[in-house]
Amino acid sequence: MLLKGKKGIIFGPLNDKSIAWKVAEECHKEGADFVLSNAPIAIRMGDINKLAKSCNSIVIPADISSVSDIENLLNETKNYFNSKIDFVLHSVGMSLNVRKKKHYTNLNYDFLFKGLDVSAISFHKILQTLYKNDFINEWGSVVALSYIAAQRTFPDYNDMADNKSFLESITRSFGYHFGKNKNVRINTISQSPTMTTAGSGVKGFDKFYKYAELLSPLGNASALNCAKFIVTLFSDYTKMLTMQNIYHDGGFSSTGVSNEIIEKI
Ligand SMILES: NC(=O)c1ccc[n+]([C@@H]2O[C@H](COP(=O)([O-])OP(=O)(O)OC[C@H]3O[C@@H](n4cnc5c(N)ncnc54)[C@H](O)[C@@H]3O)[C@@H](O)[C@H]2O)c1
Repeated sequence: MLLKGKKGIIFGPLNDKSIAWKVAEECHKEGADFVLSNAPIAIRMGDINKLAKSCNSIVIPADISSVSDIENLLNETKNYFNSKIDFVLHSVGMSLNVRKKKHYTNLNYDFLFKGLDVSAISFHKILQTLYKNDFINEWGSVVALSYIAAQRTFPDYNDMADNKSFLESITRSFGYHFGKNKNVRINTISQSPTMTTAGSGVKGFDKFYKYAELLSPLGNASALNCAKFIVTLFSDYTKMLTMQNIYHDGGFSSTGVSNEIIEKI
């Protein structure tokens, strides 16, 4: 019961493959209460209501790129809990250039702005709304999901690489102010490739996944592994950790080459 008594908001569960779905299940097991959120269309197309039922939770729709939707979500959450919250998960990413198969050397800039807004600026919008409304308790914890393409080039990750760089930068910049003035911590987790709806949308994902599996000494971290790690970040056992991008990738980020990859070549 690491999270007993803690309340939060989880953005991004679509189906039982989603990282946010596993996080919700693990937070529930550890005694937390939370509100689930996703874009209205994803709520209609996905299974989030099933998850809410099994976690004794509620669903409040919000397009994460809309400040008024986020404000409305926070107001409804305030009414639901009748108190402030302790944790937030941002598990949302989207690139229209990836979806429409636009090559990085031929980006559509309207698509780029939309993807950046949904995948990264939305994090600033959430943090700013929480901050202005003083809606998160001291020693609260906010986590967003990132990927190593923010540091190293993975050609088919396209403009999502730039979105993740921006996301990680917001984490440091807002992390300073939130830490200094409210004792709230903010981190990103740089997760292994994971078989989810968003992950599988990246060109060549299957091979990419296998490559990471062969390179990482521990193999790829699953969505469930990731969820268990996020529970620790929401708990009181990681209070002094903030403004970090934490690689949760089975050792991928520190490995140059593995014997398994050499054998394959
Ligand atoms: N799957 C991977 O390989 C992998 C690796 C590292 C990081 N991540 C990151 O993990 C996070 C979660 O992705 P996932 O892999 O669980 O896939 P997913 O497809 O299950 O989740 C992505 C979620 O974003 C939501 N979303 C999209 N646009 C939205 C909007 N306008 N408003 C609100 N929600 C919106 C979708 O509805 C969906 O629920 C993303 O940030 C992703 O980039 C994924």
